[in-house]
Amino acid sequence: MQVLTVNLGDRSYPIYIGERLLSNSELITRHIRGMQVCIVTNDTIAPLYLDNLLQALHGLQVDTVILPDGESYKTLEVWAGIFDKLLNARHNRTTTLIALGGGVVGDMTGFAAACYQRGVDFVQIPTTLLSMVDSSVGGKTGVNHPQGKNMIGAFYQPQCVLADIALLASLPARELSAGLAEVIKYGLISDYEFFVWLENNMEALIAGDKVSLAFAVKRSCENKADVVAKDEREGGVRAILNLGHTFGHAIETAQGYGNWLHGEAVAAGMAMAADLSWRRGAISEEDLRRVLQLLRRANLPVKAPSDMTPKQFKELMGVDKKVLDGRLRLVLLESMGKAIITSDIDADLLQQTFDACKAD
Ligand SMILES: NC(=O)c1ccc[n+]([C@@H]2O[C@H](COP(=O)([O-])OP(=O)(O)OC[C@H]3O[C@@H](n4cnc5c(N)ncnc54)[C@H](O)[C@@H]3O)[C@@H](O)[C@H]2O)c1
Ligand SMILES: [Zn+2]
Repeated sequence: MQVLTVNLGDRSYPIYIGERLLSNSELITRHIRGMQVCIVTNDTIAPLYLDNLLQALHGLQVDTVILPDGESYKTLEVWAGIFDKLLNARHNRTTTLIALGGGVVGDMTGFAAACYQRGVDFVQIPTTLLSMVDSSVGGKTGVNHPQGKNMIGAFYQPQCVLADIALLASLPARELSAGLAEVIKYGLISDYEFFVWLENNMEALIAGDKVSLAFAVKRSCENKADVVAKDEREGGVRAILNLGHTFGHAIETAQGYGNWLHGEAVAAGMAMAADLSWRRGAISEEDLRRVLQLLRRANLPVKAPSDMTPKQFKELMGVDKKVLDGRLRLVLLESMGKAIITSDIDADLLQQTFDACKAD
């Protein structure tokens, strides 16, 4: 087992990465200060892993909330149901909420912990690659509103994160690839050495090799924890974590949420950001080719949907007409392994990127 620390002063917490953590009773209960626990999970994950966790919590008052599976249930209404359970089972201020699931469960549980009796402890047990490397680290919690994703929420840090690599064995291949998009992102924005490691180990990752996956999770969490420690509330540098996301969000919105997975849209978005970075002279043509090649080897898309026009992209990215006027801020590559946030974007080069990155 590996242990990392997210350094946030008195809100610092450990991330444990390894196998069989879910049944490690001593490790989990170390982070539970009262006698009450409420596990929040969903109806896909519960049949797979809930029993294991229940056994590890033997001796405590444990209640369970099983949410319906899917981003479309990440709503205030479904979320409010967690409080019905907590109140009916008389959970007090020393209770601990445990999120057992992917980013949807983690975001909803963390936000419930932030609000129940003005804040109770919570533990993250991420079950997807994306939630291990991204959503369970950094303290962003929340739910969606019909007018926008993650529009209601709070910054709220967990007591600890337990990333049990063995849980990834049941994850659908497409979800694994979507998580790899965020993993590749860390290599691009802040860790060139890791990018090279990914080039050498992508086949093992796709095949579900646990040692390789554990290393990728560790290195990703280290990179994210570093950025979050510098800028917990995204006043500045944390925005580099959004490489590919401005293009990606436009794709997600245009395609309707759910058709493209978030990681898939981010992959195409990173391909576009890399293309624009090359056109600006920041990276070589060979490096652009390497970025696209690595994304492809992770079974991720490198082109935007064929029916998306540059006009649509610009509208969804919040820029109109030909003039950008410094209104569009993008995360781009300054070099391989280093990202910058810039509003100095040439409209003609951006147009060339839209044209080059459209699927045939
Ligand atoms: N808080 C943050 O900083 C942050 C960062 C990135 C994403 N997010 C949020 O995370 C969510 C996406 O997270 P996600 O990609 O984990 O999606 P998800 O939680 O919807 O999980 C994806 C699918 O995999 C299933 N699943 C999960 N673990 C499994 C396992 N071990 N075996 C089999 N099936 C399993 C889930 O039930 C679901 O159907 C979005 O709501 C996004 O807004 C938050
Ligand atoms: Zn993302």
